[in-house]
Amino acid sequence: MLSEKDFIANPTASIENGNFQWSAPSNIALVKYWGKKENQIPANSSISFTLNNCKTITKLAFVKHFDTSTSSVQAKKGFSFSLLFEGKPKEEFKPKIQKFFERIAIYCPYLKAYHFTIDTENTFPHSSGIASSASGMAALSMNIMSLEKALHPEMTDAYFYQKASFLARLGSGSACRSVKGSIVVWGNHTEIDDSSDLFGVEFPSKIHKNFNNYQDTILLVDKGEKQVSSTVGHDLMHNHPFAEQRFAQAHENLSALKTVLETGNLQEFMKIVESEALTLHAMMMTSMPYFILMKPNTLEIINRIWKFRTETKIPVCFTLDAGANVHVLYPENVRDPVLQFIKDELVGYCQNGQYICDAIGKGSQLIIDN
Ligand code: PMV
Repeated sequence: MLSEKDFIANPTASIENGNFQWSAPSNIALVKYWGKKENQIPANSSISFTLNNCKTITKLAFVKHFDTSTSSVQAKKGFSFSLLFEGKPKEEFKPKIQKFFERIAIYCPYLKAYHFTIDTENTFPHSSGIASSASGMAALSMNIMSLEKALHPEMTDAYFYQKASFLARLGSGSACRSVKGSIVVWGNHTEIDDSSDLFGVEFPSKIHKNFNNYQDTILLVDKGEKQVSSTVGHDLMHNHPFAEQRFAQAHENLSALKTVLETGNLQEFMKIVESEALTLHAMMMTSMPYFILMKPNTLEIINRIWKFRTETKIPVCFTLDAGANVHVLYPENVRDPVLQFIKDELVGYCQNGQYICDAIGKGSQLIIDN
């Protein structure tokens, strides 16, 4: 089993400058991660669908400005980078990147030798309430690993993706599920081979065809700033009265979902996924201080989905992340009637009528490699 020490780089080659560009998708958890230990170690295992259309595209240009092995004084100076968002300098984003570099410095000691220009953009609207931290941290980690592979040409693909996910996790926990694969597990789970607290792994079993190209239509209910950051949210699980039961329940739900993904049982799928979404919000409502992140329109949408499902028997369900937006999940073969239902009955509950059509994707993709 890999430990943290296995992720400390030991470059064998050198490189003066270059450019990489990667895209990394957002992901939506089916069994939720909520609560963590030190160093972004999750309190429970989680599993997510990787999305296809909602992604961050990040370009990393780098120039060597000194040799870390000979210039220890300069090496102590810290990281050198400029940050562009959609081609324009964005100072507000820099502290987050600085903190990320500090966290991964021990695993990527070569970072201090370079000046970086990081140019990033999202395919989804800014402040849509869709968190860009998962896709953003994953996209940056992929680029850093491309640089590390250039410094360490004998690196295997397996290690490349594991370490990319390991680094992404240090940026934002759920980002480690945005690296590779269409369904990703993060966190030790007795029944999932090779699962780890340190990085995400592709769901190892054969996935039933019912889940091929599974659809996720994201209804943008509230595009405002998050009321509670996920850092604060995770912290509230310390001393939470229901924490231990919740962590045990997540473990059981992942076992049950594993069988569901193998057998294609959509009724069970919907039960587990909706219960997970409501439990996540129940944890927020029962922490101290407490929060309600759903909006009245979130509840209207949930009730409409339940009514539609009862009347039509179409297997459509919802999940939520830590906000008011609703992810509507359904198989590809009911796409037309569900989209019609969304247009007829749900769009009115979305801010400015906005929603995003997405589906299961495959993970990060390399765009520029030189
Ligand atoms: O990755 P973070 O620290 O932003 O936490 C994400 C938490 C949820 O989105 C609510 C659940 C999850 O598993 O993605």
